[in-house]
Amino acid sequence: MKILVINGPNLNMLGIREPDIYGAVTYAELCRRIRQQAAAEDIEVEIYQSNHEGDLVDKIQEAYGKADGIVINPGAYTHTSIALLDAVKAVAIPTVEVHISDVAAREDFRQISYIRAACVKTISGHGIEGYLEALLYLAKGKDADYDR
Ligand code: DQA
Repeated sequence: MKILVINGPNLNMLGIREPDIYGAVTYAELCRRIRQQAAAEDIEVEIYQSNHEGDLVDKIQEAYGKADGIVINPGAYTHTSIALLDAVKAVAIPTVEVHISDVAAREDFRQISYIRAACVKTISGHGIEGYLEALLYLAKGKDADYDR
């Protein structure tokens, strides 16, 4: 099984940006944890990050016919991007939306998620473990009994 993990703007700043909200784990460490989990589950994983909306659209399109699942944290584009929604709809690859923070408990402007309508699941507020849960969900097709 091939899974593409996509991170949007500012997620490369993990460990530096607002650690009280996003935690102290760095982006490099997040990638290491994802790769470790993927190897344990026999998942072939590709990890991609961009600060640019069009690049994220390109990456989703490239996954067509290649990836069996997508895990995406679109960052702030969650709340603004119809283009990302349309891209996920276009490729029709099972996609899990992940947020490190609990967006439902934050500002009003974070309450809209355009991409959610095209996603099979949303995991929000589980910290970086949310990415690992998303991998297991896509690999096993159900909520994984993942002990955080
Ligand atoms: C985020 C939440 C978004 O509102 C924010 O813009 C981010 C990160 C999260 O992972 O909690 O960049 O997607």
